[in-house]
Amino acid sequence: MIILDQENRVFTLHTQNTTYQMKADRHSILLHTYYGPRLRGGDLSCLIQYADRGFSPNPNEAGDERDYSLDTLPQEYSSCGVGDFRLPSVEFEPEDGSRLADLRYEGCELRRGKYGLEGLPAFWGGDEWETLVIRMRDAAAKMLVELYYGVLEERDLITRAVRVVNQGTGTVRLRRCASLCLDFQRGDLDLITFDGCHTMERCPSRAPLRPGIQCVNSVRGASSHHHNPFVILCEHGANEDYGLCYGAMLVYSGNFQAAAERTWLENNRLVLGIDPCNFCFTLAPGEAFTAPEAALVCSPAGLGRMSRQFHRSLRENLIRDPFQGKRRPVLMNNWEATYFDFTADRLVEIAGGAAGLGIDLFVMDDGWFGSRDTDLSGLGDWEVNQEKLPGGLEALVPRIRALGMDFGLWLEPEMVSENSRLYREHPDWALGVPGRPRARGRSQLVLDFSRREVRDYIYKAIRNILDSAGITYIKWDMNRSLSDVWSAALPADRQGEVCHRYVLGVYDLLERLRRDYPRLLIESCSGGGGRFDAGMLYYTPQIWCSDNTDAVDRLRIQYGTSFCYPVSAVGAHVSVSPNEQNGRVTSLETRGTAAMSGTFGFEMDLGRCTPEERAVIRRQTAFFKEHYDLIQNGDYYRLSDPFADPYAAWEQAAPDGREALVSLVAGPAQAAAPFRRLRLRGLDPALRYTVNGQGDYPGDVLMEAGYPLPMFQGDYQSLQLYLSAVSED
Ligand code: GLA
Repeated sequence: MIILDQENRVFTLHTQNTTYQMKADRHSILLHTYYGPRLRGGDLSCLIQYADRGFSPNPNEAGDERDYSLDTLPQEYSSCGVGDFRLPSVEFEPEDGSRLADLRYEGCELRRGKYGLEGLPAFWGGDEWETLVIRMRDAAAKMLVELYYGVLEERDLITRAVRVVNQGTGTVRLRRCASLCLDFQRGDLDLITFDGCHTMERCPSRAPLRPGIQCVNSVRGASSHHHNPFVILCEHGANEDYGLCYGAMLVYSGNFQAAAERTWLENNRLVLGIDPCNFCFTLAPGEAFTAPEAALVCSPAGLGRMSRQFHRSLRENLIRDPFQGKRRPVLMNNWEATYFDFTADRLVEIAGGAAGLGIDLFVMDDGWFGSRDTDLSGLGDWEVNQEKLPGGLEALVPRIRALGMDFGLWLEPEMVSENSRLYREHPDWALGVPGRPRARGRSQLVLDFSRREVRDYIYKAIRNILDSAGITYIKWDMNRSLSDVWSAALPADRQGEVCHRYVLGVYDLLERLRRDYPRLLIESCSGGGGRFDAGMLYYTPQIWCSDNTDAVDRLRIQYGTSFCYPVSAVGAHVSVSPNEQNGRVTSLETRGTAAMSGTFGFEMDLGRCTPEERAVIRRQTAFFKEHYDLIQNGDYYRLSDPFADPYAAWEQAAPDGREALVSLVAGPAQAAAPFRRLRLRGLDPALRYTVNGQGDYPGDVLMEAGYPLPMFQGDYQSLQLYLSAVSED
């Protein structure tokens, strides 16, 4: 519920459990007065403290009011260079070369429903949303700034976006434009970020904010394996079930920066948006720029609730039809089974090995096109390699379908190999500065997706493939970071736009695919989880979570991922043991348990499995399908921290608490292991439950005292407990 008090210029956003408020004060500065547990409302500007602080300037119109300084007041969207020395949100460079921004409140508008953002991913929905638009102006630079707020009350979700319009007569260079600024009038906060690298993404890192700026970012052109555009600020003591937490997510797939600043007044500020490094947008008179959407969830009751609110919002209000909350196929992918070395017959043989095991979709990975026998060549030539696949997809797809499986394939549309026909014909279509040698990544270059003609060409090629055979799925990969960023299509003073235009280009192509092939399932990937963000999820309802398929490492990666992203977004497969990435040996049961905490599938030659293993796989796929809704759409609880605890445990519970699936993978074998009980969550304390069809366990006992864990023999043993409420009669 949004409440506008126009007289006092107080704007209050209530969600089910939280309240967010701002107020335009006597100098028309938009102050951020409160964000936290739900309050009754009223004007909360009484919370703001004023003091004369040395070296904190006073705005001109404040005259001698020495206790009025932008440097000490909580701002809704911070200014730049006019007396607030904390992190700026926006920076204008008009033709005089100044680089300031001084925003004053001008007006606001309330709308039913959710605002949309042209060409950008954004949460969507109907009348369950309300939108507030606040207009601010920098009078000297003649820049209008519109702040958008979307409120999804039941989910405690507040989305934000920013649109900047040049209303002057001269050109203005926009040097930064954050999506979100959030000031806290308290110092006792921890910052949690999700960091890592290729094959070890999104490992949580938590530390108290210390004085100064702490920031994670990406300047790789994609959101990156190294940091995720999702961060949390929380009370020092906050854990899964207790404490005040704020999650902030950027719905964007390119360069980003999440910066938190702790000041000497302990007024902490979080600024989230496109990384200002290498960013500069030139706005001619009348032109506008829209910053990507950001989304906030505040949970007064711990990290677990915050995650569940994000999960549900992403599942129901970001991922789009026909995949929103819907059943997706159990797939098998040939990558780790063959790498580049396959023929049509070999693929059919592999698919044959999977037939009858409950696999719905066969995915042909890299190596099927152009001269792609290694990763040194072929990218850009999206035509079937007839030597490997005689007769093309027209011949192969029916053979796979005859085995009872749909067919999908791998593409890496944004890239080009120098050894390709496409590159020989259009060398200037790759990013790079003429006369300067370019860095290669995985021996490939990046196509300039900021250019329409490049996208049109690639799109036509993709269409030809999709139209040639019944293809129901594509894996959209992206296997290097952007370097040597320069576009032959833009003038010198617009080169700071290339990275953002590139991302908009990716979104444009994905949107065209969705428009023309509405039932095509797209799984995105970037060397695993190098572009695992809400921006991609808007177009691709699932993302290959990591190139690391080892079950034990995966549990850590999936644990970190779960703080923001729902199980249904997490591409996860069973692969061979010993594992291809780290050589670890795990049982098929354990690998299945880990992969079921995602979209579930296989990345191995199932034909090589023993009859016993095949029976296990058949049971796993049947179990997964039987409990699909619970696993994918249930309320997710982290029951342990696999980085710190001797086991990884998590749970999906039905919202009504009548059933739950508890999964656990123990650590390395341990003699004389202590007795342990696992406390469950999300059950109804008043109900009684069977566990895997047996026993009679009261809900309150399971939640308060816990379920006694067995003594495990061997390394990394796993457990799946299906709990079902016993009916009262
Ligand atoms: C990336 C992906 C892998 C696989 C290879 C193919 O690394 O993450 O899953 O598709 O590319 O080259």
